Amino acid sequence: KRLILIGPPGSGKGTQSPIIKDEFCLCHLATGDMLRAAVAAKTPLGIKAKEAMDKGELVSDDLVIGIIDEAMKKPSCQKGFILDGFPRTVVQAQKLDEMLAKQGVKVDKVLNFAIDDAILEERITGRWIHPSSGRTYHTKFAPPKVPGADDVTGEPLIQRKDDTAAVLKSRLEAFHRQTEPVIDYYSNKSIVAQLPAEKPPKEVTAEVQKVLSS
Ligand code: AP5
Ligand code: ZN
Repeated sequence: KRLILIGPPGSGKGTQSPIIKDEFCLCHLATGDMLRAAVAAKTPLGIKAKEAMDKGELVSDDLVIGIIDEAMKKPSCQKGFILDGFPRTVVQAQKLDEMLAKQGVKVDKVLNFAIDDAILEERITGRWIHPSSGRTYHTKFAPPKVPGADDVTGEPLIQRKDDTAAVLKSRLEAFHRQTEPVIDYYSNKSIVAQLPAEKPPKEVTAEVQKVLSS
């Protein structure tokens, strides 16, 4: 399957992705993770992306489209994929459609993580990440067995630089202004499925499975 996950910051895209990936054996591309890796490695791409990311603004379409174009060439991405955090503008969505049209394929489903903004601050400010695996925890909703440490490796957890209440405000604004139109873009193609993203993770997973098996 060719899937897109859309939702505001903290709506649970990264939490559900690995589960969908394991079950449907797809390639998983998260532009946010790829950009953070580039920033950490101080690559030319990372240096260009950092300023916008720190402010909670979107990185330029050209940069992200370049990353996706490159990553989609991987053999594991030929039969299907999950895109987490891309496309985030209508220009990105149009470009993706063009890329897929060249291969004679289309996006099958867009999972819309629908959730009220008011819930997101608590989710974002309580999030902790194991940097090398990407495993995500939450102080209240998904606490690690040992506080501050990864369950599998015992290594320390970190917080994302943009996970503050102040930066979240800009991220939400970018979502409403630039990414919500992408949901309309796909609604017009009748491929959007709504997920009740405010429910506990397991219930969201069950909904995802229902949508994907139908
Ligand atoms: P990106 O990394 O994509 O961040 P985001 O969209 O803001 O989304 P998050 O990763 O914050 O949220 P999530 O939905 O994955 O939440 P999670 O599952 O971890 O982008 C970062 C930046 O990169 C952007 O601001 C931009 O600058 C740039 N960028 C990326 N892609 C771009 C693009 N295409 N174009 C331009 N710029 C781009 O969950 C959050 C927390 O809640 C966790 O602690 C989790 O444990 C907990 N949780 C999850 N689900 C539940 C639940 N159901 N109940 C209770 N708690 C839950
Ligand atoms: Zn994420």
